[in-house]
Amino acid sequence: APDISVADVQADLGRLQSIAEQNGGNRAHGSSGYQASIDFIKGKLDEAGFTTSLQEFTTGGETGYNLIADWPGGDEGQTVMAGAHLDSVGSGPGINDNGSGSAGVLETALAVAKSDFQPSKHLRFAWWGAEELGLVGSSHYVDELSSEDRGKISSYLNFDMIGSPNPGYFVYDDEPELQKLFDDYFAGLDITADVDTEGDGRSDHAPFKDAGIKVGGLFSGADYEKTPEQAENWGGTAGEPFDNCYHSSCDTTENIDETALDRNSDAIAHAIWSLAS
Ligand code: PHE
Ligand code: CA
Ligand code: ZN
Ligand code: ZN
Ligand code: ZN
Repeated sequence: APDISVADVQADLGRLQSIAEQNGGNRAHGSSGYQASIDFIKGKLDEAGFTTSLQEFTTGGETGYNLIADWPGGDEGQTVMAGAHLDSVGSGPGINDNGSGSAGVLETALAVAKSDFQPSKHLRFAWWGAEELGLVGSSHYVDELSSEDRGKISSYLNFDMIGSPNPGYFVYDDEPELQKLFDDYFAGLDITADVDTEGDGRSDHAPFKDAGIKVGGLFSGADYEKTPEQAENWGGTAGEPFDNCYHSSCDTTENIDETALDRNSDAIAHAIWSLAS
């Protein structure tokens, strides 16, 4: 898999930050900041040759959107999906939660296009709306799939918070095969990843899992505190939250650990290349 440039991921985060600043400070469901975030991501994907579509839904009296991007080619009966929620909470710009996952998935998709990757399986990328209101966008997507279409998704990988400032390296344990794929990747960097317990069931992989689809993903931690063992293992500060700005106004471009962002973005590309071939 190609190496994802963390500078490119950071540039996307800078753009999401300015979008928030120009739109009242956030990118929440129903806001102009969310719309502008969608326009930004969709524009890049369209330019790169993806087939994109917006899926509309309504919640809380406001229209929301999922952005779906298909890479033409491959066996659609065996579709590998990766996704991230693009909405923020109302209290801030949501750069770690979840500009980080959104940008990591975007740069992986753009790397697919740039290398003209033509895998045997079909690739689909998704940016979910209204996760912060209760996984609304991703649940809507899964609800709208026929059982036949659900059967075509080989796996769904979720990335929600991958650049936490006091980072942990957590891997979802829902599907042993997908867990091993990420664990092995980190082992290659001499990192021992832990099982994600904080995020279990609390992000957009949950509706996929409930529908019987294999799910995996990465997480660098939210408001749980890093233990002394974890600090010894990964560095950072014991007794402090993984993300002290979780769901706060200070979740800005300052609230990112670049090393974690880089490793996790590279891990997304590694997983996509391994699973699709
Ligand atoms: N979904 C939660 C949020 O957006 C936090 C979370 C992240 C949960 C990653 C699980 C995995 O606030
Ligand atoms: Ca990299
Ligand atoms: Zn959140
Ligand atoms: Zn989140
Ligand atoms: Zn679990």
